[in-house]
Amino acid sequence: MDARSLYSRLALDGPPLFFPDPPARVTFNFDQGIAAQETFPIEELKELAGRVLDRDRGRALEYISFGHDDATGDIVYLASYIELVLGHAGLREEIARWLGARQGTDRLSADGLILTNGSVQAIALASAAFVDPGEGVLIESASFPYAARFMQMRGADLRTVEIDGQGLVVESLVRRLEEFRRDGVRPKLLYVIPTFQLPTGAVLPEDRRRRLLEVAEEWDLVVLEDGIYSDLRYEGEPVPSLLSLDTGGRVLQSHAFSKIMAPALRLGWMAGRPDMIEALAAVRQDLGVSQWMCRLMAAYLAEGRMDAHIERANAVYRRKRDIAVEAVREHCGRWVDFDVPQGGFYLWLRMRDGVDWESAQHEAALGGVFCRPGERFTESADGGRYLRLAFSHAPEHELRRGIEVLGAAISHASRG
Ligand SMILES: Cc1ncc(COP(=O)(O)O)c(C=O)c1O
Repeated sequence: MDARSLYSRLALDGPPLFFPDPPARVTFNFDQGIAAQETFPIEELKELAGRVLDRDRGRALEYISFGHDDATGDIVYLASYIELVLGHAGLREEIARWLGARQGTDRLSADGLILTNGSVQAIALASAAFVDPGEGVLIESASFPYAARFMQMRGADLRTVEIDGQGLVVESLVRRLEEFRRDGVRPKLLYVIPTFQLPTGAVLPEDRRRRLLEVAEEWDLVVLEDGIYSDLRYEGEPVPSLLSLDTGGRVLQSHAFSKIMAPALRLGWMAGRPDMIEALAAVRQDLGVSQWMCRLMAAYLAEGRMDAHIERANAVYRRKRDIAVEAVREHCGRWVDFDVPQGGFYLWLRMRDGVDWESAQHEAALGGVFCRPGERFTESADGGRYLRLAFSHAPEHELRRGIEVLGAAISHASRG
């Protein structure tokens, strides 16, 4: 049987999946941007998981919430079918309260939230909910490849907007929108990571955010703000989220517990105006997220533990960033340029001219160093001169040692 002859057009034409295949055993993993295991609140989660089961018994393991008659022990059927699409009401209420306080906005509400299997599902649902084949979608010129892939799978006309050290360049956004108009394409959605942009780590200043929203209003765009790294700030003043600045109701914000707590929770969400969230609910058919995890995280938030957890985690990342920055300056400083990020998980390193980057990468990989090449994030011609180094997950001694190995490989592959 030829399996491919059975594939749908979507499966055949979809962009190829990317699973990195290192040429040697990985000793220093700086590839994935993942939360550090030492920050996982394992004891709290163990205690809460048990407590939720003791308290809610079988109700914690249903698709949706059922009530409970304490006197008879019977299940009480509630009007809770909406949880099949929006997810557990209690967690939505808690997220709205917690996130609203963090972002200084009262625009969040339980019915303006849909819970998803990580925030990638939220992004996938938004692309299905708002983008028709042939419509125009804009992303930053280096960005999260999964978001681009979902848009391509919808048949979007995907174009890129320039970025600089402060994130999206609004004048470039306007130029792209005018190009769409000239080409007879309806621009529909902008996907943007304004805070600790992936992969650059840039933070979009407030005046650009305001201008971006004016442009979105003028062109009637959906703005999809990816907020996944926004709470991982360990230096500098927070900048208001697009969601909190938006008065038109056109911003949707994806977010998750994946980076601030642990990816295996697989709990993310999209926040926005309830009638915008309804569009995501309309294209969802997977019967929702785990009641047990939702009840556990609802208790975690209700008990006010999250902010302290994030603060502890950020102290770990600040230290790792400092170690990584110091080691890069010491071992690679002659050959790379980079900005020191105020948050997030990554250093975005640009190789200076004179470095044969391909052979440097190959030698580093043979030495066990695994980083993500810049071209995974961008189609622009100079993508190959960049390297994304994730410092979040590796133990501190591996950060120091691995960056030294990387520096030696770059030095061997350079002309000066
Ligand atoms: C920019 C960005 N958005 C979203 C995600 C998705 O995270 P998750 O689905 O685990 O919440 C990631 C993960 O790497 C990311 O880098």
